[in-house]
Amino acid sequence: MEIKLTVNAQLVTVEVEANLLLSALLRDRLRLTGTHVACDTSQCGACTVLVDGASAKSCTLLAAEAAGSSVVTIEGLAADGALHPMQQAFHEQHGLQCGFCTPGMVMSAVDLVAVNPDPSEAEIRAWLKGNICRCTGYQNIVKAIRAGAAALRSA
Ligand code: FES
Ligand code: FES
Repeated sequence: MEIKLTVNAQLVTVEVEANLLLSALLRDRLRLTGTHVACDTSQCGACTVLVDGASAKSCTLLAAEAAGSSVVTIEGLAADGALHPMQQAFHEQHGLQCGFCTPGMVMSAVDLVAVNPDPSEAEIRAWLKGNICRCTGYQNIVKAIRAGAAALRSA
């Protein structure tokens, strides 16, 4: 079937099979490989993107379900060559080790601060329960999200 959706502010028209996952559309068809896939079973959050502004695990959505939606991936956050404040905060606070979980963490954090601009450490940790870091670098991830939230508040 043919679907239309917006991906990183670009209108996309694409032919998809009914069972194609959104993660596969993004990575394999659109070559947006910043969206990672680790578990494929909705456990790890590596595949998190924004769908109409809300974080969603793209391995758990069919591409067809995203028809008509606006999808933002990690590639869509930077603007005019400048990192998004949350990306910058992960960089400055060393919020990553191998970096595999990082796109999903950043997208999830962007959604968090949209609904809660000044999250406490406890609120951040609770929000991240669907995002797993196999390097277990949670301390700096939480610090990065606090810093990113502060930067966005003062922007
Ligand atoms: S790959 Fe989607 S939640 Fe793990
Ligand atoms: S930084 Fe390695 S999985 Fe999180």
